[in-house]
Amino acid sequence: MKKGKKLYEGKAKIVYAAPDSGLAIQHFKDHATAFNNLKKSTIEGKGVLNNRISEHILTSLEGIGIKTHLVKRINMREQLIKLVDIIPIEFIIRNIATGSITKRLGIKDGTILDRPLIEFCYKDDDLGDPLIAKEHILAFNWATATELDWITEQCFRINDFMQGMFRGVGIKLVDFKLEFGKTRTGKKQIILADEISPDTCRLWDIDSDEKLDKDRFRKDLGNLIPAYKEVAKRLNILHELTNISELKFNKPTSIKLKKK
Ligand code: TMP
Repeated sequence: MKKGKKLYEGKAKIVYAAPDSGLAIQHFKDHATAFNNLKKSTIEGKGVLNNRISEHILTSLEGIGIKTHLVKRINMREQLIKLVDIIPIEFIIRNIATGSITKRLGIKDGTILDRPLIEFCYKDDDLGDPLIAKEHILAFNWATATELDWITEQCFRINDFMQGMFRGVGIKLVDFKLEFGKTRTGKKQIILADEISPDTCRLWDIDSDEKLDKDRFRKDLGNLIPAYKEVAKRLNILHELTNISELKFNKPTSIKLKKK
């Protein structure tokens, strides 16, 4: 499919115009960043894995009636997506306390939350994606009260589904980030956008708590590709990627994981 002009370049993805209006091509890069771009690197093969893992998760979510921007994956690094105006909020859902919440509130790392917690962050790299209240979203018209209630309900449904999906393959869904956008053509509809991958989730092995996500990069744990491959393997989609030369460059995993 012929790519049109570049519409947007983010830290891990590029969005190009697609031949059909209302659609776009989302390209997954190998760039890894953390702490709002303070730490950056290129990790060969990461984009390929995230493209396939995100396709798998979004397609599975479509199966339970969640509307997403995914039309189809078109190659190893690209997906055809519906073009949306992104709501400038990162919706963070947490099942286990780790990462920023432990530092912000002094909660012990690994504390299992009695019920899932949703947090809202304003999407602005220069400001460091600050945590905001529901009232900020309403005050600045980033979403209406009805839209926000609907998105919140979707977030919890997605969490329920993904927790079950990952638990079934021996992975704890610790937390994750979602983004939503409004379609540009036809009836303006809010749909799930962006990606869901080990870049945007925290995933721990159910027995060992081994990290299988971007914390391997954030915390300099190494072996990011073997960890992402392990996620793809357990989701039963790695076999489709084993001929990708980019994924063969990586040394054998030194992550010790119990057999499932
Ligand atoms: P946090 O603990 O750093 O707030 O991250 C919570 C979750 O959200 C974690 O799974 C990583 C994800 N996340 C992103 O995908 N993008 C971001 O910009 C941030 C801050 C977090």
